[in-house]
Amino acid sequence: MAQLKPAVLLAVSLCCLSALLPWCAAASYGGKPLVTAITKDAATKLYTAPLKDGRPLVLDLSGPLIWSTCPPKHPSFECHHHVCAHAHSYHPPGCPRTGHGVADDDDPFRCKCTAHPYNPIARKSGSGDLTRVTVTANDTDGTNPLRPVSFPAVAACAPHSLLAKLPAGAVGVAGLARSRVSLPAQAARAQKVANKFALCLPSGGQGVAIFGGGPLFLLPPGRQDVTTTLAGTTPLRRNPGHPGYFISAKGIAVNQEKVQQGPLVVGLSSRIPYTELRSDVYGPVVKAFDKATAERKRVTPPVPPFELCYDSRELGSTRLGYAVPQVDLMLESGATWMLFGANSMVQVNDNTACFGFVKMAKEEKGAPAVVIGGFQMENNLLVFDEEKKQLGFSSLLFGRQTTCSNFNFTLGA
Ligand SMILES: *[C@@H]1O[C@H](CO)[C@@H](O)[C@H](O)[C@H]1NC(C)=O
Ligand SMILES: *[C@@H]1O[C@H](CO)[C@@H](O)[C@H](O)[C@H]1NC(C)=O
Repeated sequence: MAQLKPAVLLAVSLCCLSALLPWCAAASYGGKPLVTAITKDAATKLYTAPLKDGRPLVLDLSGPLIWSTCPPKHPSFECHHHVCAHAHSYHPPGCPRTGHGVADDDDPFRCKCTAHPYNPIARKSGSGDLTRVTVTANDTDGTNPLRPVSFPAVAACAPHSLLAKLPAGAVGVAGLARSRVSLPAQAARAQKVANKFALCLPSGGQGVAIFGGGPLFLLPPGRQDVTTTLAGTTPLRRNPGHPGYFISAKGIAVNQEKVQQGPLVVGLSSRIPYTELRSDVYGPVVKAFDKATAERKRVTPPVPPFELCYDSRELGSTRLGYAVPQVDLMLESGATWMLFGANSMVQVNDNTACFGFVKMAKEEKGAPAVVIGGFQMENNLLVFDEEKKQLGFSSLLFGRQTTCSNFNFTLGA
């Protein structure tokens, strides 16, 4: 053990130095952003991207790690390596704080880093070696994919059983959260681009993500870069113990009337299909929507998990989806995240559409007031900017006569 110490000290001090010296700390931009296609899995309503040797990983806004199954022979890291500490900066619920900084039982001179990958759908964690996998994507000018790019990324190995409940064919999870070993952070270092990413979740067809943040041009041709014409931005906030994305809202309005007074903690999650509201928020929001749609023809009993369902043939359509009252999140910055019919009404069968917000099932202490789910993010461009610590949003792209499925995936020149 004593023989290891100088090397450890050196590693620690180099790591501190590089954090202090701006020219070491990933300041040299100049590479090209990476683009990947996003597919929504019909069965699980999760979103995947073909990021691991062309095979799909589930995108997880709340996950701090990339993880996948590993072949028997794979590279590993020492338990004292700084990436091992990063891989341990967040622990899945109920997971022991072991796996880094401690030598192997059988050989005190060797230590292998173990990580704790977490499957958020099955709500299970496992243990596996920290390793490197090959991440694959294309670089992009924002208009087309240009050339295939791959880079080695730090990832955790997971037992095969940890793939339970993920979409068929998925080989793991790509954590997009706010850690040093998330996919966006590693893509930024590998490509020498900004630590930010643009996420455009599809309702069907292929959506798009750009690591490096942009530009992003959607068809029809000749349109402006969506990332520079955002509807608003708001600061990203931290929620202790959670590596995911949180913002703060001053209130919620339904049909322009404020029904909930802030400040409210709002999380964003690609793990849940529909926005979840804490019970004290759910009640007033549903009541207000019910009142504002009193004249509309209902479908009873409603189709679970929803409480308000309507005869969709009589709702009336607009460019922004069914003509229903707007739900507004009034954000800390003063910007408003507006939810129109396309993001509030879920078509549950041919003639029925339901108000797509659900009550939070299990409320842990300090639970956010709102967790925005996949359906409410679809066809909105979101820019998660870790450098400016802010979230940017386009609002529903239908308003600009485009969708998240309008990236031109034909290889460009
Ligand atoms: C790169 O882009 C091409 C053209 O769209 C696509 O066929 C290929 O699958 C992409 N590669 C990756 C790794 O996403
Ligand atoms: C998509 O990109 C390709 C390659 O640049 C181009 O030839 C094609 O016209 C584009 N498609 C549309 C609909 O603009």
